[in-house]
Amino acid sequence: MSEKGNKMSVLYGSQTGNAEMLAYDVEAIASDDFDVQVAGLDEISLEDIMASDYVIICCSTWGDGEQPDNAQDMFDEASDSDDDAFSGTQFAILALGDTAFDLFCESGKEWDELLEGKGGSRINERIECDVDYEDEAEEWIEETVDLMKAHLA
Ligand SMILES: Cc1cc2nc3c(=O)[nH]c(=O)nc-3n(C[C@H](O)[C@H](O)[C@H](O)COP(=O)(O)O)c2cc1C
Repeated sequence: MSEKGNKMSVLYGSQTGNAEMLAYDVEAIASDDFDVQVAGLDEISLEDIMASDYVIICCSTWGDGEQPDNAQDMFDEASDSDDDAFSGTQFAILALGDTAFDLFCESGKEWDELLEGKGGSRINERIECDVDYEDEAEEWIEETVDLMKAHLA
């Protein structure tokens, strides 16, 4: 019998709380089936992220296509990590942004590319949310947790 771990890290890069709130929405939906921890990207070690079986990153974009303040250091650290740092991790990215900006959802795109480039398995396509994001974000969260549950089974 396979012994799959169910450790899920739901991480947020957030400046004004939108992505953070969505991370807690993920926890509410996933906590029956997964051992969930929610953390800001500046509140967790890279080792802890790498040890997670499932990772969902909810990340907004700031400035001109930049990472939120609480995400930049971890993004730099993860970029410098080993090529297979996220092998064994099933991940999905929820990107928040605003189509009024040229670099729409750039930070989320960067995380998506980074985790895949370091060996992670993308379990659901990245969602890129505009300002009116609540309904589609909730739908994506439910779909993503269902895909992770199916993987766990
Ligand atoms: C000063 C400022 C700069 C922003 N820059 C971008 C950007 O470059 N690209 C983008 O897609 N969204 C941009 N946004 C939109 C935010 O990503 C969006 O409002 C998001 O919902 C904020 O989520 P948060 O509260 O989790 O940080 C910007 C918003 C502000 C106020």
